[in-house]
This record gives sequence, C-alpha cells and structure tokens, in this order.
Amino acid sequence: MSEDLLKNKIDLLKLPEHIATIMDGNGRWAKSQGHLRVFGHKKGVKSVREITEACAELGVPYLTLYAFSTENWQRPKLEVNALMSLLVDTIGNEMRTLQENNIKLNAIGDLSRLPNKTRKALLNGIEKTQSNDRMTLTLALNYSSRWEITMAMKKIAERVKTGEIMPENIDEEIIQQHLETSGLPDPELMIRTSGELRISNYLLWQLAYAELYFTDVLWPDFRKVHLYEAILDFQNRERRFGKTGDQVSNKT
Ligand code: IPE
Ligand code: IPE
Ligand code: MG
Repeated sequence: MSEDLLKNKIDLLKLPEHIATIMDGNGRWAKSQGHLRVFGHKKGVKSVREITEACAELGVPYLTLYAFSTENWQRPKLEVNALMSLLVDTIGNEMRTLQENNIKLNAIGDLSRLPNKTRKALLNGIEKTQSNDRMTLTLALNYSSRWEITMAMKKIAERVKTGEIMPENIDEEIIQQHLETSGLPDPELMIRTSGELRISNYLLWQLAYAELYFTDVLWPDFRKVHLYEAILDFQNRERRFGKTGDQVSNKT
C-alpha cells in the first residue's frame, strides 16, 4: 500500500503518545552491500530524520531512540569512535530541522562517560531546543535500563538516609521520578527493527505495558511507510491492562 493510503488509515485520535524504537541492523545492512559497518550507521541518520518528521507530522508527542547502549562500548574502538563523531555531526546538521519543526531534544543515559565533544554537542542541542514544544525527541545514549534502575535505587536510598523519604512511602510514582525518563510518559509502542526479538536492556520499567512491534526491516531501510504500518498494527490491538476483553470493549 502507498505511503499516503497508509497514513490516511491512521486514527489520529488513537495515536501512541510515546513511541520508543531500537534502531537495529545498521551493521548487517552495510555488510549486505559490501561496506564497512560504519557506513550503515551513516545511512541510518536518514531513517532517524524520516521517523522524527513522521511522528511530528502525525502529532506523536514523544519519540525515544536507542542510539548507543552501555554494552555498545564493547564494540571495536573504530566503530565506537565513528558512532561518537557521527553523533556530533548529526546533531549539528539536524539543528535547523529540529528548530523548524519545533522539536525539543532530550537525552537519557550516563552522558558523563561520553567523549567531551559528543557531550558538548548534545548539551548544546538540548539547550537550544529547550523551549520547543511540539514533540520531545529523546536519545538514549550510553543508556542501559539496569544502570538506570540501579541509579534510581541509589538516589532513593540517599533520600531515605537523609529522612526525606520514609521506606514505607516508596511507591511506583517515587521510583518513576528517579528514573532518567521522569517527566516522560511510558512508551505505548516499542518498535525494534532488524528481526531481533529482544529488548536489549532498553526501558525495562517503562515498557511494562507497551505494545511490542518487531520488523525484519533493517534500520537504514526504515521509512515513514514502515512507521505507519507499525502504528496501524498498534491501533488494531486490544490493550487489556489485565482486564478481560469484554471489559475493555464495554460489553459488561
Ligand atoms: C544498530 O545497528 C546501531 C547501534 C547499536 C549503535 P547495529 O550496529 O547493532 O547493527 P547490527 O545489529 O550489527 O546489524
Ligand atoms: C541495541 O542494539 C542497542 C542500540 C540499538 C543502540 P544492539 O545491536 O547493541 O543489541 P544486541 O547486542 O543485538 O542485543
Ligand atoms: Mg545490532
């Protein structure tokens, strides 16, 4: 089906409020074309632009992209360095698009371990777009969910120690407030490209009730049409949140 036909089928009143994606398959895409893995990462930037633009156009207010995991430091140095400088270039090149589209840049993860240049570019982008309010684009960078949850536990423990929080008052709300994603709604739709059927340490707490969507399309090939397919799939699902099907369709 064509891009426009698919887009028109989307119910704009039932959009996911927050889409999170695991952008995967860059390396395999490059290899299949006889190129180095880094070439795939470069090509993936166009997919980021398309998906960001498509979400903004539709009116999805939150988009979160997994760009670099804590585990990704284990990759060859050459690839890690290339990814870090690609980030600097991309943030620089995309600033205009972010401003024109009124998109706010945000980041989650341990930014302190990023190379200075990368961190500076990122913080500069975040600062310059802080008053934009059409959509929040969050990059998960040097992010892993277990790291995030561990940090939240530490922060809460500190506040218990100072008497600010009583242990019996710790609830889901308090835990949420100490996560990197505090202030963001939980993702309702999680898309992973490249056919891998796993979460890879991504937003474990936040994805508790997300609809998961897996596609074989490799990230550098991921286009608006693929996003529309994922959203339509999401809209055709019955989200029960523990209730019965009859309860959610108001048959009882
Ligand atoms: C995703 O593509 C990008 C990052 C993890 C940074 P990969 O680089 O994981 O590509 P594959 O999975 O090896 O094909
Ligand atoms: C997950 O992809 C991390 C990012 C997309 C940034 P990976 O390619 O690193 O995940 P695994 O190793 O296949 O689980
Ligand atoms: Mg991968």
